[in-house]
Amino acid sequence: MILSIESSCDDSSIAITEIKTKKILFHKKISQELEHSVYGGVVPELAARLHAQALPKILEQTRDFFPFLKAVAVTNAPGLAVTLVEGVTMAKAISLALNLPLIAVNHLHGHIYSLFIEKQSLFPLVVLLVSGGHTQVIDAKGYKNFSLIAKTMDDSFGESFDKVSKMLGLGYPGGPIVEEYAKKGDENRFNFTVPLGNSPKIAFSYSGLKNQVRLQIEALGELSTQDKADICASFQKVATRHLLQKLKKIFQSSQIRDFAIVGGASANLYLRQKIQDLCDQFGAKLHLAPLIYCSDNAVMIGRCALDAYEAHDFASFDKLVSMPKSAI
Ligand code: KG4
Ligand code: ZN
Repeated sequence: MILSIESSCDDSSIAITEIKTKKILFHKKISQELEHSVYGGVVPELAARLHAQALPKILEQTRDFFPFLKAVAVTNAPGLAVTLVEGVTMAKAISLALNLPLIAVNHLHGHIYSLFIEKQSLFPLVVLLVSGGHTQVIDAKGYKNFSLIAKTMDDSFGESFDKVSKMLGLGYPGGPIVEEYAKKGDENRFNFTVPLGNSPKIAFSYSGLKNQVRLQIEALGELSTQDKADICASFQKVATRHLLQKLKKIFQSSQIRDFAIVGGASANLYLRQKIQDLCDQFGAKLHLAPLIYCSDNAVMIGRCALDAYEAHDFASFDKLVSMPKSAI
């Protein structure tokens, strides 16, 4: 079995995966949403302190699996510097105490592997990764064989939902809240401009759209619940249309048979439907992770670690460090 740890942002999570069957034998996640919601976003130092409390609590529950462990896997990049180190330090302690090899997992690779939980890996794939920290299109050919097709030049898709929610005073994390409000809103009331709409560039940008929403909120002054719902719906439509316009260019320039959406924001059902329509238009099959494994979790880290274990891709104790800014 492999024990995996995830602490790259505000979720403390540990999982145990059986190597032979790929089955999840244990999974526990303690989210810190409540603690951060008062601040409208994640406060890194607070997150680190909460990981230091939560991770040992979860680990205690995995003691019975200790004799069966063959490796310890941990997210070491990218993420918040002060929270990554909590997981990495715990992984090293377990590795020393139980004499187990270490596996370093890139968090973004983990999100891609959320597609293969308790299943065989399915490559090649083109993957849209939409999370709080990233908006990327990735050409995924196999284990650690990933190349970037497009990425955001500033904010990420998920982050822009968080910011819109914060500006409307709706809470954190903003993604699910904005999606919920949008259901009751008129998506055609506000005509926000689609970012990079006239640019041939295959890249994403959300800072301008966020600013358009801010100006609209200021222009309205006092906001009714309906105003907020209309803003959420109009914003969600344009944020998604921006993704679709650029994805369409990618579909037009290459033959894509298998396409996937991963990351926390891939739980957005409006986005899922629009991308399903795009895939139908181009005859591609859409792959999605189970909703519970879209947001950060140690199960996807464990699933990626299975392929690392098979490839004998172990990290040396001395060289394993957290790398907050690492790319795909
Ligand atoms: O993957 P994740 O859990 O953490 C990172 O690696 O960043 O993604 C969290 C992000 C947050 O920005 C959150 O607001 C967004 O995913 N998110 C959503 C939805 N659910 C979560 N964004 C849009 N619609 C949703 N339903
Ligand atoms: Zn993530």
